[in-house]
Amino acid sequence: MTTFSDREREQAAHYDEFHAARAASTLVSRLYAQAMGDAYPAEVAPSSSCDWTLLGALVGRLQLRPGQVLADIGCGTGGAGLWLARALNVNLVGIDVCATAVRLATERQNDFVPADRARFTVGSLETTGLPDEHVHGLVCVDALFNAGDRVAALTEFHRILTPGGRAVITRVLSDGVRHAIGSQARSAGLIVEHIDNRPDEPALWRRVYRLWSAHEADLRRELGNDQTDRMLAEAHRMLPRLDRRHAVVVTLRCPLSATPSDRPLGSPNTTESEGTG
Ligand SMILES: C[S@@+](CC[C@H](N)C(=O)[O-])C[C@H]1O[C@@H](n2cnc3c(N)ncnc32)[C@H](O)[C@@H]1O
Repeated sequence: MTTFSDREREQAAHYDEFHAARAASTLVSRLYAQAMGDAYPAEVAPSSSCDWTLLGALVGRLQLRPGQVLADIGCGTGGAGLWLARALNVNLVGIDVCATAVRLATERQNDFVPADRARFTVGSLETTGLPDEHVHGLVCVDALFNAGDRVAALTEFHRILTPGGRAVITRVLSDGVRHAIGSQARSAGLIVEHIDNRPDEPALWRRVYRLWSAHEADLRRELGNDQTDRMLAEAHRMLPRLDRRHAVVVTLRCPLSATPSDRPLGSPNTTESEGTG
């Protein structure tokens, strides 16, 4: 049984309300669809910046083979991982700190793959609850910013990856963070294989946040005041920062000769300012 920190318990409570409110209404999904336009992967129904371009990047960078195991960490309602599991013919384990997200993801799995090809469990970025060397690839979409200690989360990713396995993670660079990505990866015993720019990501969030503001009354009616206040506060906080936002997809590789002694702990952490969507 996974033991969570106070911070993780608070995140679980926060995201329980977030996912429950969004599941009770189609409005937020419709606004994401409007913001993404043709790039909206309708089946995935992300609570994130996961558009067709990102799905393509995840496919290309994971380099998985049929029958291998993929983890989706911070999976939310599971769409990205389930879509990848079906497309790549791999088995999926989805992890999220939020029990509501895990329940909603589990309810969707039959829409994508047979029941024995996917499972979702409650766990955190830093304590997934998965065995050592359990997964051949891992995705983490718009979730790593939640980790209290990013090196601890990356060290956990290293622990659960098989030697040679890859973690493909969305991140946002603020000043100096490109350097931090390298040092955090090294501290976790991982190798930076690629950093791909996502030049369209800030404009996507600008459209999302403007739509939330424009639909305030509808959001209040369908999601309630608490969720709407949180969404508008995020929009208000993030909109002025988007001009300087630099979004990337980072591919980290587990060394082929990984051993527990290759896995140093403790090291630099940075603060990033990422939207929660
Ligand atoms: C912005 S949502 C993205 C969800 C999903 N990856 C997607 O693309 O739709 C962030 C997710 O991270 C989860 N989360 C937050 N803190 C977490 C933690 N410490 N460990 C694991 N998951 C966490 C939330 O419950 C939420 O589902």
